[in-house]
Formats: sequence, C-alpha cells, structure tokens
Amino acid sequence: MLITRQQIAQRVAEIGVAITRDFRDEPVIFVAVLKGAAIFLADLARQVQLDATFDFIAVSSYGVRPSPDQELKQGWDSTGEVKLSKDLDQSIAGKNVILVEDILDTGLTLTFLKKLLVAREPKAFRIAALLDKPSRRKLDIHGDYIGFTIPDEFVVGYGLDYAEMHRNLPDICVIPRE
Ligand code: IMP
Ligand code: MG
Repeated sequence: MLITRQQIAQRVAEIGVAITRDFRDEPVIFVAVLKGAAIFLADLARQVQLDATFDFIAVSSYGVRPSPDQELKQGWDSTGEVKLSKDLDQSIAGKNVILVEDILDTGLTLTFLKKLLVAREPKAFRIAALLDKPSRRKLDIHGDYIGFTIPDEFVVGYGLDYAEMHRNLPDICVIPRE
C-alpha cells in the first residue's frame, strides 16, 4: 500500500478548500477524464463549496497498446498521439474549468487536453491531478492542484487500473514490476 484511504481523504479535503478559496463564489465546471478520474471527482467535488457542474471527456491513444504485462514493466508512453473519444456535452467558453485527472505521468494526455480545452476560451483553466510522477515527464506540463507526488511505480486503486482491474480499491497500491 502506498497511500491509504485516510491520507487520500485528508489531501482531497485540502484541495477542496484550496479550490473553494481560489474561485471565491464563482461557479466551476469539473471536467473529469474517464475512467480513472471518476472516484477522485466524486470525492473532490463534495469538498468544494461552490456552485459546480460536471462534465466528462475521454481520450484514447493511437498505436498498438502493449499487453498489460508490458505496460507494467515498461509503462505506456503511447506514441505521443492522443485522440478524443468523447467530447464535452457543454460549451466551456467563459467558464471556470477544472480538469480532473487521476495521474500526471508522461504528460502527453494532459498536454493534449489542455490545448484542446484552452482553445475554447474558458475564463479560467486549472488542472487537478490526484497523483504526479514527475520522473516520467516527457512534456513540460504541471498541475495546479496535486494530491501526491509519487516515485515511478505502477499504482492502482481509487480509480486507477491495471488492465481495467482494481479501480475500486479504496487505497492506492503498488503493483510490483517483478
Ligand atoms: P500520460 O499521458 O503519460 O501522462 O498518462 C496518463 C494516463 O496514464 C493516466 O490517465 C493513466 O490512465 C495512465 N497511467 C499512468 N501511470 C499509471 C499508473 O501507475 N497506474 C495506472 N495508470 C497509469
Ligand atoms: Mg488508465
């Protein structure tokens, strides 16, 4: 176990306080990246005392996805190309957008999404990522609200998966690479 449910709850509450303070009574749209961010969104949104709406976006990677075993051992850097597989349901022009993601790894996904969404001219654009693995970064992108910075380990739980499994673990756990 790397991060317990109690540690997660405490940190998510702190981020909720920070978002509530930063947006001072202005409404926000939480945009969660499916599927990994669903649980973080559910907990974070309930710690924010602002008028809030939800939307969801999904991406997939071009190229041949490695087997789960390879993904665990070498990571999955996609090919640098990400495509949108589900767009937002609403316009974000002039709105305060908080993009909610499970983990910031190479940065390819969030760089793509940031570019896509900022082009729609929101009033404010912020990134909330539960986890950050800065040692794996390929593109220069950082989150505005980060839960925990972690070493280069493959983690599951609290929304994060290994071949779609373990998303429902309440704690964040490491899958050993060996
Ligand atoms: P990036 O584009 O490399 O930053 O990748 C972000 C995506 O990779 C996340 O949304 C996760 O779906 C996946 N990912 C990266 N590291 C892990 C991990 O340790 N466990 C599970 N999924 C991961
Ligand atoms: Mg995933």
